[in-house]
Amino acid sequence: MGVYKSLDQIKNSRRGRNFSVFTNKGLLFWVFVLAVLCFISLAAFALGMHFHVKLEHGMLPWREMREDFIVHDVPERPTKKPRRQRFFPCDVVFRDAVDLHSEPKDFMNFTQFSLGYMETEKKASHTDAHDPRFGGHQTLEEREQSFSAVNQTIHCGFLRGAAGLPSTGFDLKEEDKRYMSACRVVVSSCIFGSSDFLRRPTSRLISEYSKKNVCFVMFVDEGTLSTLSKEGSAPDDGGFVGLWKLVVVKNLPYTDTRKTGKVPKFLTHRLFPSSRYSIWLDSKLRLSTDPMLIIDHFLWQTGSEYAISNHYTRHCVWEEVLQNKRLNKYNHTAIDEQFSLYQSDGLTKFDPLDPNPSLPSYVPEGSFIVRAHTPMSNLFSCLWFNEVDRFTSRDQLSFAFTFLKLKRMNPDKPFHLNMFKDCERRSLVKLFHHREPSAPPPPRIV
Ligand SMILES: *[C@@H]1O[C@H](CO)[C@@H](O)[C@H](O)[C@H]1NC(C)=O
Ligand SMILES: *[C@@H]1O[C@H](CO)[C@@H](O)[C@H](O)[C@H]1NC(C)=O
Ligand SMILES: *[C@@H]1O[C@H](CO)[C@@H](O)[C@H](O)[C@H]1NC(C)=O
Repeated sequence: MGVYKSLDQIKNSRRGRNFSVFTNKGLLFWVFVLAVLCFISLAAFALGMHFHVKLEHGMLPWREMREDFIVHDVPERPTKKPRRQRFFPCDVVFRDAVDLHSEPKDFMNFTQFSLGYMETEKKASHTDAHDPRFGGHQTLEEREQSFSAVNQTIHCGFLRGAAGLPSTGFDLKEEDKRYMSACRVVVSSCIFGSSDFLRRPTSRLISEYSKKNVCFVMFVDEGTLSTLSKEGSAPDDGGFVGLWKLVVVKNLPYTDTRKTGKVPKFLTHRLFPSSRYSIWLDSKLRLSTDPMLIIDHFLWQTGSEYAISNHYTRHCVWEEVLQNKRLNKYNHTAIDEQFSLYQSDGLTKFDPLDPNPSLPSYVPEGSFIVRAHTPMSNLFSCLWFNEVDRFTSRDQLSFAFTFLKLKRMNPDKPFHLNMFKDCERRSLVKLFHHREPSAPPPPRIV
């Protein structure tokens, strides 16, 4: 909504400037004529907006923010065309103030086991292990085994080749690693490939406690850092821009920057090894709620170890697959391969009539995730990451499969996932459009 208000304001203020040229002439008559013209053009603008929006869709199929093209204050149109659906925030009632000491007693009494992460792969067992990959070379048998919530060591990114082989990527400065390893509560996000602007958390809404005790880390690549610096968001000597600590990632592990973005999105528990809680937000969101209040509301109050919102319209993976193909979000063959494997391994359609659904929706809106770094939560994060690494970077396709398979394979080990309503997400953050793709167009994906 904010997007539209500000769009209106911009348009209006532009008009205002144009008028001032004329009104300065001081001719009352012209003022009147212009006022009439203004009225007509505003009316035309309001009517035209709908078409303008549609046109933009057609031209920019890779945009993710279609949901936010909300037509504001447009009078009811007499045509039969269905109105674009509106999405509003809903009320979320937070407690007054909380800090880490407010963590409920016994909150961390979730399913316990000990999870280890593979650092390197043995050459002998994999013919292609000479070509080190960030995600490793997990076999299908290893993948199957990794879903068991038992003491085990699994693939979870950050695999290194043998000594002497080049890095598999996501290289960080030692001082940044030191900073990150001290974080207990993390808010993180990323911008790779200059795909977005830097949106600072709304400072007056962040508590003093959080400003002192929560790490706000924005992962960027070198190109994005230089773009941001040119735009006036150059980090200070400590690497900060406002609350954000900019951490530069060198040697991105994937050519697809979207896929690279899944590393900080899913693997927070690996990047911040001593962190207890984390909040992930997509760069299109501006955080406008205190992170401790978010943790309290979505985890502590509901006894959950993982919280993510459902999708604002789609609930079935079948719909999501169609939508991804329709908008050419990814290589269709790769989507089909992933989807047919999921169907053969038990993924079913979402049943809205099921009185006891495993999930309120099979499609998440993954731009905002709240996590306690418990064994089940960390396991789920690794498993979801491994699906994205193996298949497509479209993580909405793999969410339900990963969750349902984890549940199916561990019937006596609960995983407390809180799938909350998308309107709640909208009340915690302010949504923007991703930056318009500029000079180098996004890679064609067919
Ligand atoms: C911890 O969880 C277990 C099993 O879920 C339960 O039996 C036990 O009573 C819980 N302990 C506490 C202190 O809440
Ligand atoms: C799993 O690991 C924990 C901690 O390392 C240990 O206490 C427990 O006995 C192990 N469980 C099994 C079944 O090996
Ligand atoms: C699409 O994916 C398939 C299967 O993963 C692959 O063989 C093919 O080369 C891909 N096509 C393009 C254009 O990337």
